[in-house]
Amino acid sequence: MSDNIGLVDYDTKIPNNVQLSSDRALQKALERWLPNFLNWWQEMGPADSAEMEVYLRTAISVEPDGWAKFGYVKMPEYRWGILLAPQEEGRTIGFGRHKGEPVWQEIPGEYRAMLRRLIVIQGDTEPASVEQQRFLGKTAPSLLDMRNLFQVNVEEGRHLWAMVYLLHKYFGRDGREEAEQLLQRRSGNEDKPRILGAFNEKTPDWLSFFMFTSFTDRDGKMQLESLAQSGFDPLSRTCRFMLTEEGHHMFVGRTGVERIIRRTCEVLTEKGLNPDAVPACRKLGVIDLPTLQKKINFHLSVTLDLFGAEVSTNAANAFNAGIKGRFRESTINDDHQLLDATYPVLKTIDGKFVMVDEPALNAINSRLADDYITDCEQLVATWNRAIQSYDLAFELKLPHRAFNRRVGEFAGVHASPSGEILTPDEFASRQDDWLPDQGDLEFLLSLMEKKQRGTGEFAGWIAPPKAGINGQPVDYEYVKIHAA
Ligand SMILES: [Fe+2]
Ligand SMILES: [Fe+2]
Repeated sequence: MSDNIGLVDYDTKIPNNVQLSSDRALQKALERWLPNFLNWWQEMGPADSAEMEVYLRTAISVEPDGWAKFGYVKMPEYRWGILLAPQEEGRTIGFGRHKGEPVWQEIPGEYRAMLRRLIVIQGDTEPASVEQQRFLGKTAPSLLDMRNLFQVNVEEGRHLWAMVYLLHKYFGRDGREEAEQLLQRRSGNEDKPRILGAFNEKTPDWLSFFMFTSFTDRDGKMQLESLAQSGFDPLSRTCRFMLTEEGHHMFVGRTGVERIIRRTCEVLTEKGLNPDAVPACRKLGVIDLPTLQKKINFHLSVTLDLFGAEVSTNAANAFNAGIKGRFRESTINDDHQLLDATYPVLKTIDGKFVMVDEPALNAINSRLADDYITDCEQLVATWNRAIQSYDLAFELKLPHRAFNRRVGEFAGVHASPSGEILTPDEFASRQDDWLPDQGDLEFLLSLMEKKQRGTGEFAGWIAPPKAGINGQPVDYEYVKIHAA
């Protein structure tokens, strides 16, 4: 057994740095959950991956440098572990009515229900994304991309473990029941769907995967950064370590889209086509820039719905209680209690967008969405720099935050991506210019070939990356297929 919190004990059934073996009941309960998890992985994890050996990173420590080791792993033998960031001596609650008090190592009874809800909602997203991405391995544009997909998948599986650990350790029988439920719900299933809308959407093609990891994993980052502030210390430590993995998921998304852009721009330049050419581009087997714009419109809007109502007493209560803070709370320069503060929130009043000062406590969700949009603007700027490097006059843009919303202030508002308010009929008549239509989705699917690629081989619609993984060459054998 390891006494060092930095090192992970891999000699036990469940790798961990939480001294699991010192709590027999908990260890047993988790060991009973383990085969159920593996059954779920078998049924809903990456299809036909059981025989593959994948060049994966596994966390071996939670220290910032040298926390991971790389090597070939047979996918079902991946060691999903329970890893918490080190406990900080003397940490105090950073916000809300308990500000300045020591953080909690156990759950305060009055906040039990609230904490359980937040942990279950976060936990539910993790297996959901694995389910959404289940069949993508079959159409991977290269072995390197296939490996990146599987890396994201095993880590989302580990994030599920992270939340299940908290449920089992701190919530008794209710927690164990919730942990079972997390394996029962299914993305997109009518009878037992996943909890949040975006996690019931399909991810049928690789552009959707790269957009999902760019935009929806970025929501994951925002939520984890807010939960990492929590006064409930085990939750904070869990989320802090999850964030190190989340960074890679967003990297896969950002660079994936960027490589698609580079390939398209190469072809546009070579053939002297207009940057907004659609049929000509498609004929040449690359993804046209207007389709990328429509996908951005779709993924940003469904992801913004994950932030919940802009003005929310639930969010105010969680903040006040010291359970969920703001994005990087400790870097914000105010009193961290917000009792008299206000925050400007965009609303629709009499058919117009108006900024309204709301009590800052009630505007926590809106503020997190603002921080998210700022992050996304930087993301789109890096994609636009890629386009500009080919001297093409085309600019990708984030849609207006009211565009295509189902949740919160803008549900029921029909806004264009540039932020004009329209009638429902006007919106319906232009919807196909703004969101992927059936033809666009079919085109994307038609590009996805079910063919096994050799090392260093890439599909024609995506450029190879500039560098390989962990210092390996781009044409490294990132996945050994061993097809039956
Ligand atoms: Fe995750
Ligand atoms: Fe993720």
